[in-house]
This record gives sequence, structure tokens and C-alpha cells, in this order.
Amino acid sequence: MSNPFDQVFSREGTCAVKFDARRAVFGREDVIPLWVADTDFAAPQAVTDALVARARHPAYGYTLFPDSLYESMIDWFREHHDWTIQREWVRMAPGVVPTLHAAAMAFAEAGEGVMIQPPVYPPFFSSIRKAGRRVVENPLVERDGRYEMDLGHLESCASDPANKVLFLCSPHNPVGRVWCRKELEGVMAIARRHDLVVVSDEIHADLVYRDRPSHTMLAAVCEPGDPLLTTVAPSKTFNIPGMGLSAVVSERADLLGRLNGVFDSLHMVQCNPFSVTAFEAGYRHGGEWLAEMMDYVRGNRDFVLGFVEQRLPEIKVTDPEGTYLLWLDCRGLELDDPELKRFMVEQAGVGMNPGITFGEQGSGFMRLNIGSPLGVIRGALEQIEVAVVARRSQ
Ligand SMILES: Cc1ncc(COP(=O)(O)O)c(C=O)c1O
Repeated sequence: MSNPFDQVFSREGTCAVKFDARRAVFGREDVIPLWVADTDFAAPQAVTDALVARARHPAYGYTLFPDSLYESMIDWFREHHDWTIQREWVRMAPGVVPTLHAAAMAFAEAGEGVMIQPPVYPPFFSSIRKAGRRVVENPLVERDGRYEMDLGHLESCASDPANKVLFLCSPHNPVGRVWCRKELEGVMAIARRHDLVVVSDEIHADLVYRDRPSHTMLAAVCEPGDPLLTTVAPSKTFNIPGMGLSAVVSERADLLGRLNGVFDSLHMVQCNPFSVTAFEAGYRHGGEWLAEMMDYVRGNRDFVLGFVEQRLPEIKVTDPEGTYLLWLDCRGLELDDPELKRFMVEQAGVGMNPGITFGEQGSGFMRLNIGSPLGVIRGALEQIEVAVVARRSQ
């Protein structure tokens, strides 16, 4: 039987950003789109069935968050992450990025600092800047292609009383690190010493590989009363990010209350009949699908690692521990950032995220999304190879 994840189905004309924004972003519609962080896999059948069943009831009015929604995520995190969440620790939120923005507003004053660890998902910068808060960078350190946190530098940033908040990306987009317990303990020790609020974005928590370290929730290394808010969502896990529903979890009622104050002032927490349905169906019934999906992505990962090593010596890939995002070090091509983007789009015909958008530490890199059928990934790499070979002989 063929593998369902091998199936290529068209997403064009579905208002999919990854496909239908290509002209706007890359200047042409024919690039192989391996950028935005969603996958080209059909969501779990149980999610689609639940959505279809909900759509059959033709009243799409204002919608509340049912108890069963909370229970579905509480059960999921107990079963998959050994994390016991109490119902009153949970606040639903439209998306993780709005939560980051609301947290910058809630826990730092105008002009005060929020720390991030670039290269990192671009909204980590913009959610702070657009709140009128200051981005404080604690760059990750690269050692032989593996990235680590610089806890010494983090401590010195945290010791400035004007820096109030840390946004942790765990697992880390784009470098694919799954932070180990010791690293996480180091982060929380610093937070305690300097009275920081930590917002841990764990949207990729479920996307780890069977043959790599498992994910540790930051909450698992916390002590009662620690200043932590964790953001989670089924969006990446079941490929339903368009539903726009996530959750924030914190044992600290005072912190949740301050965050709620921002959300409420913007009248921002509202859900819709479909987001509630997809969220719950994913967490209730998506476990088996997720395991199969990550096995498939593991095959893609190994294919890319092998291909690049054997056929693209100018490029190095960071071996990811988690996420379906690969971080390609293209500095060996000796192109500046605008040239690198042009080269990938115009010569190779592949649309990836330029590394420079993840912070200046991403200069010379590209982020490749491998959440697509292997045939698509293979085609993209072959096109890159043709372009690189042509460039060698220039
Ligand atoms: C680390 C991280 N946080 C948040 C998001 C987006 O979250 P949302 O769509 O819920 O705002 C992404 C999407 O790529 C991500 O990689």
C-alpha cells in the first residue's frame, strides 16, 4: 500500500499562504514552496470528519470554549508529555504570536527589555517591537553545526533590571534544538535569580524524532511559584495552524490575570466553531497520525542530510532534534543575503525562508521546510543541485 504522506495534492487556490502568496513573496508563482511552517500533508481524518460534521449544522454563531476542549489538551499533555495541567491554569488564546505580543505588553513597560535567542522565529522580534518594548538578544552559540544557549550571556542580560521577560523557543525554530533538562534548569535558575517572567513557546513540542532526544516541557523543571507561562497549540502537531487557536498555561494566577488583562482589553479571545472542533479532535484522536507523520518526516530528514552531504558540499545542514524545519548553512556559496534569496528563487526555483529574517545570525542561511511528500523535497534538492553545479562552472 502506498504511504498516504507521499500523496501530492494541490493546495493552490485554497488561500494557502505557502502557495498562493508566492508571487507576492518570491516574485513568481512557480517556485517549489518550502517556506511557511505548515505541512503539505492532509490533517488527520478524524479532524476532517469532525469539521465536516460540525459544518453540517448550519448555525455558525458565537462559540464558547467547552469543558471537553480543555479536557482534550489536559489529557494529551498528561499522556504525551507527562505534564499534569489543572483546568484553572489554562487560558485559550487566538494564536501563539498574539500571546507573545500580549506578554510583552503585560510583563514589561514601554521601552523595557524582552530577551530572545536568535536566530529565532521572526515574530519573536516583531511581537516585542510592535508592543513598543525593546528586543534584547542573547544569540545562540554554534559549535560544529550544533546550537547551544549562552547561559552566561543570558545571565548578564537578565541582571539588567530593565530586562523583564524571556521568550524561550522550545524546540527551537529554526535550528531544531530540543533543549535538554540541564539547559532548561539553567534558564529557570536565571529567571528565579533575576525575577524574570519566562514565556516558553512550545508549539513544536510534539514534533520530535523517535531517534533523537525527547522533549522536556520547561514546566517539568519548575518549582511551585516559578514565573512561567507555557504556550501550546495543536496547530503544528496536526497541521491545522489556519484554525488559529492556542492555549497558555501557567500555575501563576497573577501572571495569567495580567495576560488576560491585555487580551480582554483588545476583545481578542474569541473562538469559532471550527477552531474548537479541530483543536479537540486533534488532541483526542490525532496521536497515531502524528507518530506516522513524524516517521515520514524522519525519512525526509535523512534523505536531505544524505543528499546535501554527498551532492552539495557548499551547503551544510544542521541535524535537527525536532521540528520539520531544516537550517541550511549556505555560506559556502559565497553570496550575500539578497543574492542568496535570488539564487534560490531564480536559479533553483525553490522558495525557502531567508535565514537573515531570523536575525543577523541567520545571514547566509536558508530555512527549508521538509513537511512535504518526499518526491517534492527530492525535486527541490535536485533543482538546487543543478543551480549550484551551474554556478561552480561560472
Ligand atoms: C516557534 C513558533 N511560534 C509560533 C508560531 C505561530 O503560532 P501561531 O500561528 O499560533 O501564532 C510558529 C509558526 O511557525 C512558530 O514556529
